[in-house]
Amino acid sequence: MVLEHFGQVAWDEILGDTGLDDGAFVSAQSYPDEVTFRLITTAAAKAGLTVDQTLHAFGRHWIKAADQGPYANVMRILGGSLLESLMNLDRMHASIQIAMPGAQLPQFTVVSQDSRSIELAYHSRRAGLEPFVCGLLEGLMERFHEQGSIEFSGSVGDARMFTVTFAAPVNA
Ligand code: HEM
Repeated sequence: MVLEHFGQVAWDEILGDTGLDDGAFVSAQSYPDEVTFRLITTAAAKAGLTVDQTLHAFGRHWIKAADQGPYANVMRILGGSLLESLMNLDRMHASIQIAMPGAQLPQFTVVSQDSRSIELAYHSRRAGLEPFVCGLLEGLMERFHEQGSIEFSGSVGDARMFTVTFAAPVNA
């Protein structure tokens, strides 16, 4: 996202500011969350955004990037609608776990749904990623040309609850 919006120089500066270099990252490896959050915090400061705004933007970006890059097939198989994609998400993430044993993947459960809304429970060992989830859900809505809004409505026990509200009734 940094490369796309700000270019290589900005990315190199962010890596420099966080004491990292490009060689430190290998695709499909796991890294300490502390490194990821350091990158996000530094990128946010550079872009003049809050961390939450950056996470939100990155969620939207990830759906587009996954759709257009090497994960295009995974995204296609994931589902033909927002609801179907959400219902298949855990199975898709679980298949990644085999190739990335160090990954700590989230869990998503569709708690209820009708033509107007979807209520979704999100479980994760990580704190503070709710804006990222909102961005991902917005990206998915956009992917299926569905209009509406996403709301994080708070926690129920360990579950963090999100409501997707469609602007017009949607056939599942
Ligand atoms: C091609 C599609 C996708 C791939 C390959 C993928 C893969 C991954 C991987 C590798 C991680 C990092 C886990 C770790 O290293 O600990 C992750 C995290 C995550 N994924 Fe996906 N994912 C995809 C699509 C989605 C979609 C559509 C959502 C929609 C809600 C989603 C929600 C998340 C969230 C919220 C996390 C953060 C981890 C956490 O909450 O603890 N992913 N995913």
